[in-house]
Amino acid sequence: DTWPKDVGILAMEVYFPAQYVDQTDLEKYNNVEAGKYTVGLGQTHMGFCSVQEDINSLCLTVVQRLMERTQLPWDAVGRLEVGTETIIDKSKAVKTVLMELFQDSGNTDIEGIDTTNACYGGTASLFNAANWMESSYWDGRYALVVCGDIAVYPNGNARPTGGAGAVAMLIGPKAPLALEQGLRGTHMENAYDFYKPNLASEYPMVDGKLSIQCYLRALDRCYTSYRQKIQKQWKQAGIDRPFTLDDLQYMIFHTPFCKMVQKSLARLMFNDFRSSSGDTHALYQGLEAFRELKLEDTYTNKDLDKALLKASLDTFNKKTKASLYLSTHNGNMYTSSLYGCLASLLSHHSAQDLAGSRIGAFSYGSGLAASLFSFRVSQDASPGSPLDTLVNSVSDLPKRLASRKRMSPEEFTETMNQREQFYHKVNFSPPGDTNNLFPGTWYLERVDEMHRRKYARRP
Ligand code: HMG
Repeated sequence: DTWPKDVGILAMEVYFPAQYVDQTDLEKYNNVEAGKYTVGLGQTHMGFCSVQEDINSLCLTVVQRLMERTQLPWDAVGRLEVGTETIIDKSKAVKTVLMELFQDSGNTDIEGIDTTNACYGGTASLFNAANWMESSYWDGRYALVVCGDIAVYPNGNARPTGGAGAVAMLIGPKAPLALEQGLRGTHMENAYDFYKPNLASEYPMVDGKLSIQCYLRALDRCYTSYRQKIQKQWKQAGIDRPFTLDDLQYMIFHTPFCKMVQKSLARLMFNDFRSSSGDTHALYQGLEAFRELKLEDTYTNKDLDKALLKASLDTFNKKTKASLYLSTHNGNMYTSSLYGCLASLLSHHSAQDLAGSRIGAFSYGSGLAASLFSFRVSQDASPGSPLDTLVNSVSDLPKRLASRKRMSPEEFTETMNQREQFYHKVNFSPPGDTNNLFPGTWYLERVDEMHRRKYARRP
């Protein structure tokens, strides 16, 4: 019983690019039907990086900002984990670049390195940090978890599901968002739904339809095992009833595009319905016709899709919608997507609303690796409490998003072409005006003939 209590998230910092393209503009530019991206995918804007930013600069920015915000000394950190799938070097970890920030403090005793598997790397990093804190190797210091990615696709139907961003989290005991012990439902399997075998390109290979089925199947499996684990805990405490969505006050998901998340929340309700019997929830009334459907057939059945979206709409609005604010306006941030959803959720609720609640979280990374786990929010929402401080720290998210610069689809396309042109190029300084970056942003200053990268910070 020597474990620290309530290990979890103490503070967060979110970074996204200072420019975006409007999805309505993109629909027109790509000559697709109006509504295909904005309604069909549920995306209104997409953030994108210029050639002056890469994964190292994104992570430098978000870590430095978090440290400045919390005013912690640099030697208070004993572990730093990075989750990313934006690989610019097959050997040298982003973590090693971040050590530059610690240089003046003299602190080099910092465990942790990069973790990669599509969008799951951030969650693996979070789990690693928490596991360290609950082990004999913990030395009493904080952990930092950083996740970030630049999500770009070639011209075509996947391109509007891009995005970019990074999230840094300070992990420690007595956290206002504590990871619930023993409650992780995981599913991993071998699938080729989205992968990046082409090392000469920033773009992935994607089987879009397969990826959606893989995501939903992983969600089913993780929810089933999460429920089994929590029900077992309950049974030991003398509670004998099924776990349902009613037991989650909020539910957040990895968000490749927002429509996918609405369908995922609906899918959880379907799971509850399928394991219910007899007198069921009033919400499930329209679902009875689908009870006997073979599970494999439930992923593509349009009638079921419609019935589920209808049955779950109120639940979605209450438990999940607020978490999609950043994703709607910025797009997929891969490893940082789920944690951006967490920040959005916090930015749209008061500490009083959140106090004492359980937040479910589903992390999915193609290939595939997925986990469903949960946070318990602290009871204390008083002014100045850790929860209140955390909630206040992300409350400017909508304002910050609104301050970005709107770029035309032509400018966006030109930037994507530039990124292709400069990818793995040597001996160059990326062109561009650093005034287009948010103040305090790190950027790539130069790549020398030996592929060594040098960064600078915009005042
Ligand atoms: P698409 O060809 O545009 O698909 O590709 P679509 O034609 O089926 O349209 C999508 C939806 O828009 C459909 O709705 C249409 O009806 C609707 P649904 O039937 O599915 O409910 N629609 C319209 N709605 C209103 N007005 C209109 C209209 N037109 C169509 N005018 C796809 C979409 C997502 C497949 C593509 O963008 C893609 O391949 N994206 C990348 C892969 C992806 O995001 N997968 C998600 C799950 S995998 C994952 O999350 C992992 C990932 O993050 C990577 C990682 O782990 O690192 C991607």
